[in-house]
Amino acid sequence: MIGSWSAAADLVVVGSGVAGLSAASEASRRGLRVVVVTKDAPDEGSTRWAQGGIAVVLGDVAGDTVDAHVADTVAAGGGLVDAAATADILGAGRAAVQDLRSRGALFDASGTRLARTREGGHGTTRVIHAGGDATGAEVQRALLAALPGEITVLAHHTAVAVGRDRGRVTGLEVVDDAGVPGVVAAPAVLLATGGVGGLYETTTNPAVATADGWALALRAGAALADVEFVQFHPTALAVPRLVGRAPLVTEALRGEGAHLVELSGRGVMDDVDPRGDLAPRDVVAGAITAVLARTGAEHVLLDATGVPDVRRRFPTVAAACDGIGVDLAREPIPVRPAQHYACGGVVTDTTGRTGVPGLWAAGEVARTGLHGANRLASNSLLEGLVVGRRAGADVAAALSGPRVVPEPSGLVVGTALAADRAVLQRAMSRGAAIGRDASGLAATSDVIEASSVPVALDSRAAVEDAALALAAGAVLAAAGSRTESRGCHLRSDFPRRDDRWQGASTAVTLVDGRLCLGALDTALGGAA
Ligand code: SIN
Repeated sequence: MIGSWSAAADLVVVGSGVAGLSAASEASRRGLRVVVVTKDAPDEGSTRWAQGGIAVVLGDVAGDTVDAHVADTVAAGGGLVDAAATADILGAGRAAVQDLRSRGALFDASGTRLARTREGGHGTTRVIHAGGDATGAEVQRALLAALPGEITVLAHHTAVAVGRDRGRVTGLEVVDDAGVPGVVAAPAVLLATGGVGGLYETTTNPAVATADGWALALRAGAALADVEFVQFHPTALAVPRLVGRAPLVTEALRGEGAHLVELSGRGVMDDVDPRGDLAPRDVVAGAITAVLARTGAEHVLLDATGVPDVRRRFPTVAAACDGIGVDLAREPIPVRPAQHYACGGVVTDTTGRTGVPGLWAAGEVARTGLHGANRLASNSLLEGLVVGRRAGADVAAALSGPRVVPEPSGLVVGTALAADRAVLQRAMSRGAAIGRDASGLAATSDVIEASSVPVALDSRAAVEDAALALAAGAVLAAAGSRTESRGCHLRSDFPRRDDRWQGASTAVTLVDGRLCLGALDTALGGAA
């Protein structure tokens, strides 16, 4: 594309959440010229909405170790966690959190040390938090406030395509909110676009989470993996008739003693799992879904009335509850599962490298192997910090030798198939959520295909709709092929885990415009 304008950089970062800003800062600190492209205001991504905290071993909790954190992560991940990658990422957590604190992030304290809470799947209290339940907002604030002034931030610019020439990245094509196209020529692009919540009618993600990074990566030749593992948070606030972002009701409330009950008062987790309310997220979300199906109720209840000083400790949740007329200190909170997190994504190593030279990815958009089939609570901000920082450093190292300055390349994607968004979201919510089966997945594909038409990628809405259609295709294909239940991939026609799928990740690639499935080649990014 010859845009209306062109610019040059060493690194273009797409996204301005925890991973993107960590990468941008690190690369800038190492002397690179960095441009951050973000399609809304810089603080409008998922990071800002994260509540519970950051799971990290800082060495000041008696008996807790990185090995124990790794073990909890592996156990939650349903046999698909890459233990070596996990030990590598979690082991780097302490330094990453120290670095974040040195940039001004303030965490809640208890006496002379940081306060801790507990969430589902964790064997101990190891989750640090800020502002009670506003951890993501503090991380976002601190990273933006400390962003080096040399970094150019292009807000309200949507990434259209990664430019490539002879297999190498040449930069990024963008379009702004007024429809003006542009090109940033650069030898390195880092995707940090966050999640895929826009695939579903209700999600805890903000509106910007429309799978853009998955689409950019697929079209650039990179592989996705584990995309069938779409995590539903057990406790989103049950706002009647809501479509869009559902307020999160953090798991940390259960860590502090809140209890899930059916409308009848029976404990939701009674007889389901010995860990009760603090079982991993996939188990709790599955149990609530089963209760809703059995009873026909619209929601279950989270009783937080016994949590000490609950309004002060959880001000974000308290405000959301106030918004629907519920005082969480006095009455139970209506909750139900909502889409929350993509456990899979663009295949990378633990420095964010994809299989495409010049393309990196970090944060929720990526798949390092840390989450497997079900992400452990509060591991995501940590992953964004660690891998984002490393990716920024890795780009700087990769660009340190002699190199050719790329020219802006020709148009990579002019049009793509896009579906009607409301139709797609309704179909995905019915056929590709918790309790999916073969006929529902096939029907969902048919509905989306029937509503798909080619669109020019000349606006944010068109880019998002096309990304959602491609991402839905990837999720449906991977979910249809995995004939078992594992982690947050719960199939009603294959309700049990099948050992033949143990350790087997499915990769998705785009070949001649068609999505292809294969076994993940762990030697980075390819599909065997
Ligand atoms: C929560 O606070 O319950 C969400 C934390 C997470 O998604 O890791």
